[in-house]
Order: sequence, then structure tokens, then C-alpha cells
Amino acid sequence: MDNHSIHGMWSSRLAFILAASGSAVGLGNIWRFPYLASDNGGGAFVLIYLACIVLVGLPIMAAEILMGRQGRMSPVNTLRKLTREGGHSGGWTVIGWIGMVAAVLILSFYSVVGGWTMHYTWLYIAQIFGGAPITDPVATFTGMLASPGTLIFWHSMFMLVTVGVVALGVEKGLERAVKFLMPLLFLILLGLLGYGISTGNVGQAIEFLFKPDFSEVTGDTLLAALGQAFFSLSLGMCGIMTYGAYLPKDISIPRVAVVVSATDTSVALLAGLAIFPVLFTFGIAPAGGGPGLIFTSLPLAFNDMPFGIPYAVAFFGLLFVAAWTSSISLLEPPTAFLVEMGKMSRRTSAIVAALFIWAIGLVTALGFNVWQNVRVFGRDLQGAIEFVASDLMLPIGGLLIAIFAGYFLSRDIARSELSQLSKAGFAIWRFLICIVAPVLVLVVLAFKLFG
Ligand code: TRP
Repeated sequence: MDNHSIHGMWSSRLAFILAASGSAVGLGNIWRFPYLASDNGGGAFVLIYLACIVLVGLPIMAAEILMGRQGRMSPVNTLRKLTREGGHSGGWTVIGWIGMVAAVLILSFYSVVGGWTMHYTWLYIAQIFGGAPITDPVATFTGMLASPGTLIFWHSMFMLVTVGVVALGVEKGLERAVKFLMPLLFLILLGLLGYGISTGNVGQAIEFLFKPDFSEVTGDTLLAALGQAFFSLSLGMCGIMTYGAYLPKDISIPRVAVVVSATDTSVALLAGLAIFPVLFTFGIAPAGGGPGLIFTSLPLAFNDMPFGIPYAVAFFGLLFVAAWTSSISLLEPPTAFLVEMGKMSRRTSAIVAALFIWAIGLVTALGFNVWQNVRVFGRDLQGAIEFVASDLMLPIGGLLIAIFAGYFLSRDIARSELSQLSKAGFAIWRFLICIVAPVLVLVVLAFKLFG
């Protein structure tokens, strides 16, 4: 049974591409990317991010998928299997453990923000039926943050729909829903882009997003761009490795890696081009919007544009769906691990993992109100968890994955997993994974620590 995972298998290449794109495309593209670009000064951040996608993200994505397909288990047990069979130190299993902790931390705040998208969808649905309009988006947003009850309620709802899917197994429900809903999200973003173009400030947005000013680049900018590349592609915590474990043998890894990365990157850029014109149109300074950026700015556009309210329902509704297809990929690795311990069914495992993560999510939810004055690393609680998990653990996890795949995993295994690459293509992948990716990650981490 070497070629099958005990957890199930993707039915086709398309199924894998949809699942992996569903994982990659999420809040990272539409919520996190615009606000990081805004906080980090625009153009230089965006260009560094794009460079990180190609030079670090793409080769590591291939490495994660191929390691997963070799191991066919949850990250920890995949690493156990690969190190045992290759005669390497069992210490490498730490990659799986870092991944598991990162998944738990990321999902804990991801679910709270996913809850925001549900809350906003609900607010706009209510408006169609005569509910109060959002005339002061900043007040609406801060009002939501100030209410532990609201945050915890929607955080719980989001966790509930996530665990529902993971408990049932991914293939049936989500695969089919995603096939239809992700293109719809794409269309909605294009519509918002059209609105931006028609109100005339797209030029300013393009300039802000693509005209680099490298004089402003600090260690923090570099780290934020690198962390965002990992976050957006779902890399560094073995999530894509877990999905790779369910990938049939005959499917080309380089091809799916390129398709998934390209899809993810286009959605992020499209979201940027859709959102920044709105900021300029309404004279909101693009700098320093923070995590509230899209929630405090886009409602102004929705109030102004024709059919803005139903449009807002579609926008936040689809953003919720995008977040949902990502959150299941964060819950899958811990769930698969619990299943492999052999004591619990898939359903119980998913529920146990989700409850644990839900409880940690309370720290984020309460960090916006009850504990709003608490500072860790100079950040509020949500910011601190996001920073440690995304900007530190993901690059470190990715670095270890690159080193393991480049220097320890046998070259023959890698070659056979990437058999669709030409000789030159494989040499390029080796160069990226052995040298370019590790050096870049190390330089960025060093810049941050000592720069
Ligand atoms: N990539 C998703 C997004 O952009 C979030 C996500 C899903 C993720 N799985 C992950 C981030 C694994 C890091 C690691 O919203």
C-alpha cells in the first residue's frame, strides 16, 4: 500500500490543484497582503514579496509536495518515515513538530478573523432586509473588536464549519464547492477593480503598489515580505506536505506547484489593485491601516457604488469561503496526526484538535478588548501570535525543509518525484533549494536579528 495514504487520496490533478489553491488563496491574499503592503510602504514590499514567491516559495512548495508524497502520512510521521528509510537523524522530525505548532497558532487567529468575515456578511445581509447601514466603518469595526461576545461567537461559528468539513473528509463537500466559488471570488474582485478604474484612482494605486522605494526597506520589511510569501502559499508548516501525501503518483509536481503559486499570486495582486484605488478615492491614507484595513475602507466603496450592498454580501461571503478552504488545510495536519496515533476516529480527532485551537483563539479574541493593553514584542496579542507563527516559524520551518530536501533526502528520490522536469529544470530546482532559498531565508532572519 505504498502508494496510498490511509487518510484518502485526491481523485485527480484538478482535485489537488483546487484543494491546494483553496488552501493558498485565503485571508492571506485579500486581508493580509493589502494591509502588509500598506504598513510596509508599498512597492518595495510588493517586489520583495514577488521575488520570495519565485525564489523561495516555488522550490519549497515542490519540496513539500514531494516529501509528502514519499511519506504519505501527517508531517511528523512523514518525517519519521523519511529519516528512518534514509538513515538520517530522527531529529529532523522537528520539522513536523514546528509545523504542527505553527498550524495551531495560525489557525487560532485565522479563525477569529474568519469570524469577522462572517460577521460582516451577516451585517450586509441584514441591511438588505432593512438593517442599519454602516455609515461609519471605523466605528463599526472598533465596535466589533470591543465586544468579546461578538468576536467569540463568530470565532466559534468559523471553527464549527471548519471542523465540520475536516471531520467528514475533504473530498466530497469542499472540492465541489471550491470549484464553483473560487472563480466567483475572482469575478467579484474584477468587479471591484472595475469600480476602482471607473472612479479614476487606479494609477495612483499602481504607483503605490509597484513603484519601489528601497530606501525605506528595513529588516522588518524583508521579514514581513518573506513571511507573507510563506503564509500566502501555505508553506513552511507542512500543510502542503500533508496535501502532497494524498497526491497520486503519476501527477506532475512541478506543474501543480506552478499553477497553485500563480493562482495565489494573481489573487493577491488583484486584491491589491481592487482595494488601493478605493483607499485613494476616499482619501484614506494607505499607510498603517493594520489588520482592520479592508474592513474599515471597503464599506465606504460599498455605500457609494450601485448595488453596493448585495455586492458587499458577495464580497464578504466569498472572502469567508476563501478563508474556510484555507482553514481546513490548517486543521488537517493536526487531525491526521491524531488519527495516526491510532486511538481516535477521524471525527473525534478533528473535534479534539479544533477545541484545543478554539481555546487558544480566545487569546486573540480577548486581546482586542479585555487584554487590549497587553504587549508582547511590542505588539498586541493577535499581532504577536501572527508575528511569531508567520514571520518566524514559517521561514524557519521552510529553511529546515529546504535543507532536508536539498542535502539529506536522496537525490534519486527527488529526481524520480520530479521526473517531469528536464535535466536543466532539475538542476535549477536543486540550485534553488540547496542554495538560493536557504541563503535568502538566513539573510532575512539575520537582517531582522542584527540589522
Ligand atoms: N494560505 C492561506 C491564506 O493565504 C492561509 C493558510 C492555509 C496557511 N494553510 C496555511 C498559512 C499553512 C500558513 C501555513 O490565507
